[in-house]
Amino acid sequence: MRFTTLGKSETKISQIGLGTWQFGSKGWGFETDFNKKDAIGIVHRALELGVNLIDTAEVYGMGESERIIGQALEGYEREKIVIVSKFLPATIRPSAVKRALTKSLKRLQIDYLDVYLIHWPNPLLPLGATLKHMEKMVDDGLIRHIGISNFGLKRFQKAQSKMKKYTIEVDQLNYSMAKSKVKNSFLPYAEEHEITVMSYSPLGQGYLTGKYNPNNTPSGTRRRNRLFRKSNFKRGVPLLEELKLVAQEHNVTMAEVALSWLIRNKQVVAIPGAKSILQLEANVKAAELSLTEAQLSRLNHEVSKFNPKLLF
Ligand SMILES: NC(=O)c1ccc[n+]([C@@H]2O[C@H](COP(=O)([O-])OP(=O)(O)OC[C@H]3O[C@@H](n4cnc5c(N)ncnc54)[C@H](OP(=O)(O)O)[C@@H]3O)[C@@H](O)[C@H]2O)c1
Repeated sequence: MRFTTLGKSETKISQIGLGTWQFGSKGWGFETDFNKKDAIGIVHRALELGVNLIDTAEVYGMGESERIIGQALEGYEREKIVIVSKFLPATIRPSAVKRALTKSLKRLQIDYLDVYLIHWPNPLLPLGATLKHMEKMVDDGLIRHIGISNFGLKRFQKAQSKMKKYTIEVDQLNYSMAKSKVKNSFLPYAEEHEITVMSYSPLGQGYLTGKYNPNNTPSGTRRRNRLFRKSNFKRGVPLLEELKLVAQEHNVTMAEVALSWLIRNKQVVAIPGAKSILQLEANVKAAELSLTEAQLSRLNHEVSKFNPKLLF
C-alpha cells in the first residue's frame, strides 16, 4: 500500500481507501447478490491489505453502512483506522450537525470520527455557523479533522474563509478518468494548499472497468448515472480502448489502471466501492502499479478528449 497525509495534518492515509455506499444499500444490490457477510469480509480483507481509510455516510443504506462498519471493526485497533463519515445538511439549523454526529458515532460504535464531512453544499445552510459547530467538535475530541464534499473551488474557498481555528483538510469530489474536470478546476489549488482530494466514484461506478457496454448497463442506483447511456459509451470508445491497452501492457485490470492514474498524484486518494473481495484486491493492487510517462501521456490525451453528455 502507498500512504500519504491527510491535508496539512500528520494523519497517514492509504491512497486506496474503501468506499462503502454499497453496504446496506438496496440500490447497489445489497440483500440480493451482496449481503452483510460479504461486506464485513471486504472490510477485514481491506485492513489486512493495508487499507486504513474507510469512507461512509449517514445516508448510505439509511445508516446501515455505518452499522456494518461498526460491526466489522469490533476488536480492531481503533487508532490504526481512519474513518470518514458525512452528514447531509437537510435542515438549516447549524446545531443539526451535532445530533447527526452523535447518531453516526453510535452506529459506528466509536467515540470519535477521524474525518467529518459536509456531504453536499446546501445554499440554505448557514455555513459559518455549521463549521463553527464542527470546530467545537474538534476541540471536544469528537472529530479529528474537518472536510467537505462536492464543493467546487469557489465554495471551498468560501468555506475555508469561515474557519476560525482549523483548516479544511479534504474535499471529496467526483473525480475519475471519466469525470476529470477536477484535474484542472481544483487539483492545482489542492496541491498548492495541501488539501486532500478524495476521489469518489473513481471507477466511474464501473464504467471504467470494461465490463459494461450499451447492451449491459448496471441496474439500481446507477440507472441515474448518465455515463452509462449509449451515446456516452460511443463517445467513450477511444478512452476505454486506451485504458484496455495500457491494462494489457501491464497484465492488470482496467480498474487498476484507472485507480493508478488517479493516485499518481500524492494529493489524491481514491475510495473505490467493492462488491466482492476479488474486486477489492484488484483495487488495492493499483497502489503497486506505476504507469510510464508515455502511458500517462496517452491516457491523458484520451481523458482530455472525452466529453460525455451528462445533462438530459
Ligand atoms: N461524497 C459523495 O457525494 C459520494 C458520492 C458517491 C460515492 N461516494 C463514496 O465513494 C465510494 C466509491 O464511489 P462509487 O461506489 O459511487 O463508485 P466506484 O467506486 O467508481 O464504483 C464502484 C462499483 O464498481 C464495481 N467495481 C469495483 N471494483 C471493481 C473492480 N476491481 N473490477 C470491476 N468492477 C469493480 C462494483 O460494482 P459492480 O460489480 O456492481 O459493477 C462497485 O460497486 C462510495 O462507496 C462512497 O463511499 C461519495
